[in-house]
Amino acid sequence: IRRGFSSSAVRNVVIKQVTIIGGGQMGAGIAQVAASTGHSVTLVDTSDDILKKSIKTIEGSLKRVVKKKFADKPEAGEEFIQKVLKNVSTSTDAGSAVKSSDLVLEAIVENLKIKQDLFSRLDKLAPAHTIFASNTSSLPISDISSTTNRLDRFGGLHFFNPVPMMKLVEVIGTSSTSQETFDSLLNFSKVLGKTPVSCKDTPGFIVNRLFVPYLYEAVRLYERGHGSKEDIDIAMKLGVGYPMGPFELSDYIGLDTIKFIMDGWREMDPDNTLFAPSELMDKLVAEGKLGKKTGEGFYKYK
Ligand code: NAI
Repeated sequence: IRRGFSSSAVRNVVIKQVTIIGGGQMGAGIAQVAASTGHSVTLVDTSDDILKKSIKTIEGSLKRVVKKKFADKPEAGEEFIQKVLKNVSTSTDAGSAVKSSDLVLEAIVENLKIKQDLFSRLDKLAPAHTIFASNTSSLPISDISSTTNRLDRFGGLHFFNPVPMMKLVEVIGTSSTSQETFDSLLNFSKVLGKTPVSCKDTPGFIVNRLFVPYLYEAVRLYERGHGSKEDIDIAMKLGVGYPMGPFELSDYIGLDTIKFIMDGWREMDPDNTLFAPSELMDKLVAEGKLGKKTGEGFYKYK
């Protein structure tokens, strides 16, 4: 195996200091879990106001965790919350935050150019041993890493929403990711209390590659007139045991998010029939009927 760097000191990095860029839904969740498992976390976003909200979100979520975990010991629960919060600091300056980091994990907006610009800038500022990772759902890790000079120390860490609840982490290695980096990311996921699976850098990795085409095929099945939305939802709940049917679930996730992922994959692989568009999906998104968050998607919400 070719190594992009030579110092033995940088092998098998044990991740203690973590910088998380993006304090939104995912970034705040990952910060919470990393801080709860004893890591020193710096959460970075574009403004102090956003970061205040991120900390509020973490605090609220910790309170829910503590209610269950420390049901009979509220004082120990409060102590735990304070200890975890002490492990999180915030910053609007990614460049200085990464200087003492073992891992830089990015969870910003799903836009290739913006992610590339961020990593290319941080690549020049972070120490040599620092591993970079992206939480992207739909972009190739090798495209994101391409603007850096640390291809061997770059991988994907794909968490699921809500991060404190969901056990899975997809660990993604590109053809350039070193074994040491991959092992460090796998190990980090385990230390977080998650169950990692190993993935190749292919569209949607494992989960979304199966899940998004399934949602689309449910819409196409309905468009072909082969079943009503209601019947398809009932069928998948009672026949497969899924907690939600595909239309309910699409409305919950947001039709814009699902369409964005599928459109991106179709651009990369236009002939793949699994990535075929749906007229209905395109129409609903164009009309701003994005699901629960806008009050209407496949169904109407009060
Ligand atoms: P979000 O919109 O909740 O949060 C993104 C945050 O990044 C915002 O607070 C924004 O201010 C900040 N940000 C944007 N550009 C930045 C920059 N240049 N520097 C610093 N901060 C910046 O988004 P969410 O849902 O947390 O998603 C983030 C990433 O995670 C995306 O790549 C998404 O594909 C991925 N992801 C999302 C999942 C989900 O269910 N929402 C699941 C798994 C992955």
